Amino acid sequence: MADMGIPFHVGIIMDGNGRWAKARGLFRLEGHRAGMARMLALIEHAFDAGIGELSLFALSTENLSRPKEETEGLFSLFRLYFTQHIPPLVGRGVRLHVVGNRSLLPADLVSLIEGAEERTKAGDKGLLTFAIAYGGRQDIVSACNRAVKEGREQTLESFAGKLSTGGMSAIDLLIRTGGEKRLSNFMLFEAAYAEIYFSEKMFPDFSDSDLDEALLDYRKRDRRFGTSVE
Ligand code: IPE
Ligand code: IPE
Ligand code: MG
Repeated sequence: MADMGIPFHVGIIMDGNGRWAKARGLFRLEGHRAGMARMLALIEHAFDAGIGELSLFALSTENLSRPKEETEGLFSLFRLYFTQHIPPLVGRGVRLHVVGNRSLLPADLVSLIEGAEERTKAGDKGLLTFAIAYGGRQDIVSACNRAVKEGREQTLESFAGKLSTGGMSAIDLLIRTGGEKRLSNFMLFEAAYAEIYFSEKMFPDFSDSDLDEALLDYRKRDRRFGTSVE
């Protein structure tokens, strides 16, 4: 059995904000606000637990076709994050990285993202990646186009390096909250051998101890990577 301690790279598909709000008679945006508050605490807890890389799915390419009111509200929440919540990351030596198609985002938000990446670039104690305006399939196509321009046949490693997650490790544990059992275009290449954990909890309700439970569940898995059972 492979070493099954703390997963090094954890991905979280943070789903269920809208339903969380609806169940309380609130606007969807209130759900996103509650989701962000939960996310802030969860990031701290994840790095305290010893996770090395944390990748959070915050907005898919497909989510951009939601009503403008919702996408604008989400952009404002991201603005808030990238201006106010960077110092704690710097303090604990976590480097921030954003993957996705920046040309689909408002220019001022892109500047804030770049500023936050710059301010945390010396961090060597952990990597926090936000997937914003991100699509796994689109990212694979972009990598293919880079390979075509290079004009050379690719190996698995060289191709992985051309993805926007190039340089990161493969996902060990992928958590999806909100009850749906699908990947919805999140890190398709990177999650090839991820252990997947589905939680029925809507993201704003996904507590620190729910994350602990997922980590505990991961410890019980037998990652074989295609080898035969001993
Ligand atoms: C996840 O919550 C956050 C984003 C996709 C931006 P949703 O907004 O998808 O919430 P539900 O799935 O409708 O409850
Ligand atoms: C996945 O959730 C994207 C994020 C959590 C950012 P969606 O709500 O977009 O997924 P579907 O539509 O239920 O597949
Ligand atoms: Mg959803």
